[in-house]
Amino acid sequence: MATLLYERLGGLDAIKAVVEDFVARCAADDRINQKFGRTDIPRLKKMLVDQVCEATGGPCTYVGRDMKETHRGLGVTAGEFDALVANLVATLNKFNVPQPEQEELLGALAPMKPDIVEVESAKTATPLPASYQTAPPMR
Ligand code: HEM
Repeated sequence: MATLLYERLGGLDAIKAVVEDFVARCAADDRINQKFGRTDIPRLKKMLVDQVCEATGGPCTYVGRDMKETHRGLGVTAGEFDALVANLVATLNKFNVPQPEQEELLGALAPMKPDIVEVESAKTATPLPASYQTAPPMR
């Protein structure tokens, strides 16, 4: 039986470390960080850990909003999507995640792209629309 991607990534502790590094890279990245200007970052980290854990076969349940609802009205461009994915790849390289596992993880995220990208443009650093409704804070 093939081992779950969750296990090959190193389980929950490894996924938490990846999410920490990835979110820090995104926060430092002027191509995309404006979009997170009103975001509850602890919630975002928890949601990303749960989403990756569940999507890779781990024992987590993602209870956040679906990708379309979450990103609706953010005005994310294709260029900003690519910038975010490049940050993820940089994180995976830092943690020495092997190529097959990287490809499998990126392959699991790729189908979400049409639900996230609203603007087919290579532009980056586009502003966060004032009308965007953020998620409620975690209780
Ligand atoms: C495959 C790519 C992506 C995945 C898997 C993903 C996943 C997520 C998840 C799980 C959340 C949390 C939802 C919740 O709190 O209910 C979230 C929130 C968010 N995402 Fe993404 N995302 C992706 C790409 C992007 C891109 C490219 C941008 C913009 C550059 C972006 C901007 C945001 C922002 C600003 C929030 C916080 C929304 C808030 O303040 O409530 N995401 N994303």
